[in-house]
Amino acid sequence: MKLRDASGKALKAQLLALPYAQGATPSQPWMDTTLGADERTRLLLGEMTQDEKFQMLRSYFGLGKDGGPLPEGAVGSAGFVPGVARLGIPAQQSADAGVGVTNPGGIRKGDFATAMPSGPSTASSWNPLIAYVGGATMGREAWQQRFNILLGGSVNLQRDPRNGRNFEYAGEDPLLGGVIVGESIRGIQSQHVISTMKHYALNDMETRRNFHSVQIGDQAMHESDLLAFEIAIELGKPGSAMCSYNKINGIYGCEHPYLMNQVLKQEWKFPGFVMSDWGGVHSGSKAALAGLDQQSAGEVFDATTFFDQPLRLAVAGGTVPQARLDDMVSRILRTMFLHGNFDNPPQHQPIDVEAGYAAAQRTVEEGSVLLRNEGNLLPLADSVKRIVIIGGHADKGVIGGGGSSMVGVTAKGTNAVPGVMPTTWPGPVIFHPSSPLEALRAERPDAQITYVDGRNPAAAARAAAQADVALVFATQWSAESVDLPDMQLPDQQDALISAVAKANPKTVVVLETNGPVRTPWLAQVPALLQAWYPGIRGGEGIAALLTGKVNPSGRLPVTWVVDESQLPRPHVPGLGFNPKQPAVDIFDFDIEGANVGYKWAAAKGLVPTFAFGHGLSYSSFAYENLQVSVEGQRVVASVDVRNTGARAGADVAQLYLKLPQGHTTPIRLVGFDKVNLQPGEQRRIRIEAEPKTLADFDPTAREWKIAAGTYQLQLGRNAAEPLQVVDVQLQDTVIR
Ligand code: BGC
Repeated sequence: MKLRDASGKALKAQLLALPYAQGATPSQPWMDTTLGADERTRLLLGEMTQDEKFQMLRSYFGLGKDGGPLPEGAVGSAGFVPGVARLGIPAQQSADAGVGVTNPGGIRKGDFATAMPSGPSTASSWNPLIAYVGGATMGREAWQQRFNILLGGSVNLQRDPRNGRNFEYAGEDPLLGGVIVGESIRGIQSQHVISTMKHYALNDMETRRNFHSVQIGDQAMHESDLLAFEIAIELGKPGSAMCSYNKINGIYGCEHPYLMNQVLKQEWKFPGFVMSDWGGVHSGSKAALAGLDQQSAGEVFDATTFFDQPLRLAVAGGTVPQARLDDMVSRILRTMFLHGNFDNPPQHQPIDVEAGYAAAQRTVEEGSVLLRNEGNLLPLADSVKRIVIIGGHADKGVIGGGGSSMVGVTAKGTNAVPGVMPTTWPGPVIFHPSSPLEALRAERPDAQITYVDGRNPAAAARAAAQADVALVFATQWSAESVDLPDMQLPDQQDALISAVAKANPKTVVVLETNGPVRTPWLAQVPALLQAWYPGIRGGEGIAALLTGKVNPSGRLPVTWVVDESQLPRPHVPGLGFNPKQPAVDIFDFDIEGANVGYKWAAAKGLVPTFAFGHGLSYSSFAYENLQVSVEGQRVVASVDVRNTGARAGADVAQLYLKLPQGHTTPIRLVGFDKVNLQPGEQRRIRIEAEPKTLADFDPTAREWKIAAGTYQLQLGRNAAEPLQVVDVQLQDTVIR
């Protein structure tokens, strides 16, 4: 697939219509906006004292140390670097994160933001424009809340459904994840806000994240997690990257010369700066020489502020050359020039609440996945007049993930269900005030819709027996810094679903989870909708999908395994909140290597509950006449897609490459296209394969190479069932 610009011109113009300011003065020539970022940086660097340079290299915890006052000038958020007034260098104010602008504990009185749906929701849209608009919404709101850096753009691959932070990421596939996160980054940076892509790299599990090491070979890491980063960088050009807590093959992410210096900066030519994760720094000169440019909030989270006194000594003593120090500062300043931090400084303004709602709702509507719909139970027919909604606090709101990314303060207030444990870090457990019950009542005023909390399965079953349809809402909370113990829905929700389904065969389950869970009741339940963590318009979006006002078009960005036995690591000691279990210190990612998710399933002949890419519509689509043209690394498929159903809807055509024996990976997603069609409408679409997904990474030659041979291109609606296939001959080709 050719990586392309997803934004329309009009949208871009509207989003970019921000004031321009400031010109040069003779004493500050770097303020001349007609000069390029490199030249402005050179001019400014030449004027800086050594102290002013060092000031750039460390941020302070923007929320204050040990509950004390905020650093002077800090807006109140994750990170703060004071500016240099004498030279007109603005402060760096950074806020979390990827699902909206956070306001921890409501510290910034009066500020609120749009709680966007979680990362897998955006990824499930398979729609780059959704990701771009979501990113632009967050970027805009960050800028309006006085931030010039947003710590968003998270593209760690989902290797395990138990990873506590999957809700911040974009699924298991490097192409889909890279495109979605790349577009989100582009959206953020369209608003004069730097995006920090993270967590670099392979921070794919949270258990003992500050201590564990992931073990993985060079080729495998390039063909999996690193490829996702590479694609996201190519598309989004993030100004900054955040190195991760974990070790990779025994070396901390923030002192990894191979990952930071060689791969990121030399081979990928990343011109931006690397900041550490909060508490991810273990050395001064070692980290600086490995490629770390800025230490984040070390005075609170690290053993010491390595990038202050220790680094000053190292530079004075020549261990770290002055040239490297200047490079660190230049990378930061250049990024700030490039992304408007000097010329378009943030202005404190109220956010556009309605625009935020529109972006959030569109994402839920395109990003929720209809997994099952036997007998077309959905959309709810007009004849369905008695509906009972059960469980999940669906009368009050929708659940969100915990940790630094949690958007707790919205225009509609804070937590709709306070007091659910844990109430402290990585909690509180949050329910965004967007009630599915109220939203469904608004959509279906003709129906009698009641709510039962589900704590008593027998009472819920009795209510279900009286209804035409029962809708069970099941939730699974997940958070940063801790993995889920297993794939089971917590709090006996499986028993609740079974009891309800037994009482009423017309039972629909709506899941609000971090990712795939076990579904032991599936055969009893005709309809299943995965809504992930659906954000501040979750209730409205879910209601629109259940009633058919919106036709579902989401597709899974992950493989929905049956249970843990289908994972590369079925049993991992120490997961969850159970300190009694011995904890893991090595995650052996070499087990699956680059075969993450559907590739693992294909390699092992596993049949998951739902394949990667799966998702239903209220309409149906047909493919005909797949043709493929090959010209070196340019492989283009075209196919007729027809809406054969009675409703307008969107289909996601997915192009996979089946590799011959001898490759480490049996199958890869190489391109996709989401297409909207009216009933009966047919369109010929083109999908250009992303060249790197046709190739293997050669770690010795440091190149992506297509190996000559016969390959099969498969067009389908998921990774497991090809619908149209064509054999192609590929020649030996080095990707350029
Ligand atoms: C998280 C980062 C986050 C940072 C600042 C860390 O704990 O891993 O994703 O940006 O905190 O809040």
